Amino acid sequence: MNFEELMKLLTERFTNGTFITGTISQPRSKTDDLKRVRMKPIELRGELHIQFEYQFERILKHENISVNKLYPKLLELLEQFRQVHAEFSDEKVHVQLSKKFKVLWKSEKVQSEKVLNLSHNRKKNYLLDENTPYPFLVRLGVQTPDGKVKKQKHDKFRQINRFVEFIDDSLVHLPKDRTIRILDFGSGKSYLTFALYHYLRIEKGLDIKVTGLDLKKEVIEECSLIAKDLGYDDLEFLVGDINDYNEETSIDMVVTLHACDIATDMALARAVKWGAKVILSVPCCQHELFQQVHSPALDVMLQHGLIKERFSALATDSIRAELLSLVGYETQLLEFIDMEHTPKNILIRAYHTGKKPTDADRTRYTEFKKLLNAKPFLEQELGSLLE
Ligand SMILES: C[S@@+](CC[C@H](N)C(=O)[O-])C[C@H]1O[C@@H](n2cnc3c(N)ncnc32)[C@H](O)[C@@H]1O
Repeated sequence: MNFEELMKLLTERFTNGTFITGTISQPRSKTDDLKRVRMKPIELRGELHIQFEYQFERILKHENISVNKLYPKLLELLEQFRQVHAEFSDEKVHVQLSKKFKVLWKSEKVQSEKVLNLSHNRKKNYLLDENTPYPFLVRLGVQTPDGKVKKQKHDKFRQINRFVEFIDDSLVHLPKDRTIRILDFGSGKSYLTFALYHYLRIEKGLDIKVTGLDLKKEVIEECSLIAKDLGYDDLEFLVGDINDYNEETSIDMVVTLHACDIATDMALARAVKWGAKVILSVPCCQHELFQQVHSPALDVMLQHGLIKERFSALATDSIRAELLSLVGYETQLLEFIDMEHTPKNILIRAYHTGKKPTDADRTRYTEFKKLLNAKPFLEQELGSLLE
């Protein structure tokens, strides 16, 4: 087989539906900054693409190439590198190129059982797979460089995966004709912010711009550095207070995970004012109602401090959901992840529909508020939007 025949064969094999994963390595020039390239098939807007992950000295970059542009891309790379490993559903291939571009092709048939496993993996490609190394998870210390989830990080990995499922469900509500603008309020160490970026930009190839905002300067500096190293050009991190953040006029998706107490309400109010199409919010430390709730009809419950605390937290989230419905959101309270059976385990999911509330809806909310003697912070924040 000569070099030209190799190029044609690889292009055909990478695009005929049997390709699983590949690596191009051994740069011809030792001084080349690009060390290796990983490849895998992905589906973007219903069409097969090959994703190239370029591993430079310090950073990783990604590029999604459509099938009709694959030949020139492969040619460019195989002129720079001397080795290709590729795994297909029926065989494993190893190609070695000599200095003068002579081709040595070795292949090994794989068992049908392996084929089944691999097709299963490909199906799971949409969400994060346990044995695939993801650069952001390796960098954040969740996975080892070869893709094993670290023992003490299994819960985190499941939580991230669950969150990605919610992101995936939300896709239909996001705009398709322009850059999707996403904000993560109280992003902290930003596991989910990176997961969101990875999933929407790298896996799905969507045009997005993501901002993580947090009060903590050192954490934000660390996250900015990681984003830069990973080549995540449209992910930025800013130091700031949710309540003072007035940089934008419109945002498509607002995310908060465990933003403490009323920081969640501030974020929800901001999201509504921007007309965000999707809100995903996992609240925590809901103290507000605990101080306010007073209802003789509920004393059988509220006389117990433990019950009062849990009741207040659940009532807070119910009120948040109700308020979001009153300002035009289809809202659900869902189980986030079953690792903690606490009120922290609730995810508020709201999709903007613009549906107007009826008088009965308003009365239902007012009656509930009266029953508890509650003066919800979110209601004050939403102000005239509720009228
Ligand atoms: C419990 S941590 C959660 C971090 C991250 N979302 C996660 O789930 O890993 C809450 C974060 O919210 C941030 N935070 C709290 N109030 C905030 C506010 N008013 N403005 C910006 N960030 C805030 C804190 O600094 C903290 O990093």
